[in-house]
Amino acid sequence: MTVGTSWVPRSVDVSRPCAARMYDYLLGGGHNFAVDRELGERVATALPGARDVARLNRAFLRRAVLALAGCGIRQFLDIGTGIPTVGNVHDIAQQADPGARIVYVDNEPVAVAHSRLMLDGNDRAAAVEADLRDPSSILDAPATRELIDFDQPLGLLMVGVLHFVHDVEDPQGVLARYREVLAPGSHLALSHCTSDSRPTEMAAMAEVMKRGKDPMYTRSHADVTALFDGFELLEPGVVATPLWRPASPDDRHDGPERDQIYAGVGVKR
Ligand SMILES: C[S@@+](CC[C@H](N)C(=O)[O-])C[C@H]1O[C@@H](n2cnc3c(N)ncnc32)[C@H](O)[C@@H]1O
Repeated sequence: MTVGTSWVPRSVDVSRPCAARMYDYLLGGGHNFAVDRELGERVATALPGARDVARLNRAFLRRAVLALAGCGIRQFLDIGTGIPTVGNVHDIAQQADPGARIVYVDNEPVAVAHSRLMLDGNDRAAAVEADLRDPSSILDAPATRELIDFDQPLGLLMVGVLHFVHDVEDPQGVLARYREVLAPGSHLALSHCTSDSRPTEMAAMAEVMKRGKDPMYTRSHADVTALFDGFELLEPGVVATPLWRPASPDDRHDGPERDQIYAGVGVKR
């Protein structure tokens, strides 16, 4: 679906494809431009089943938020939110408890603009435009300070985002900055692309992504597990997205698309 461009923030470069809008396109959303659709199609060619990979990741996000809500988590910091689509974190969390508070963070202005439109009238949720590699810009943002109580357990969501952070930018060190401000009982839910299976296709996809604003860096099972340093992994550990506590037949998937993203949830003791 294509939409008009009256909703486009002025700061957006509509000639440069980006991950948020390509993901929206792969999920069947309408907040993307011709350049995003073109590169999205190239991704789908390089990695057959890319739409399923995106859908399975989104389904993991939903189950993770429900699991955290079940553990008593009532505040969420969702970093790398993406463009609002089906199953937004505040919908899931506030359905479980209307008092739940959510801060969305993305470095893509279109994603933030849409989150703000969607949250109009919701005084327990806000969207911040910031880069996860600069933790203080997120942790000290007025919306974060207003909505999040760092003395209470928090759900930190880094779903489908850390594969945009290169090793030289020290993703583990960045995560440690967030971890150190979290109260015991806080949870980290994370998903991350891997080349462990289908390395040729994933390398082709990473090559395609270099043409956009957000190059991608896949990581091995051991490297993704290491991102949970300081958190105790909950069962079933770091697994392919559909294997993380599938709740319905729709969550299950046995095709080769199953294994391109690892997912896990850990708790800070
Ligand atoms: C694949 S989408 C994931 C969306 C959502 N978390 C989900 O799993 O359905 C990745 C999002 O991360 C955002 N992103 C990429 N690098 C980022 C960074 N350094 N800081 C903040 N957001 C980033 C992109 O703009 C995009 O919206």
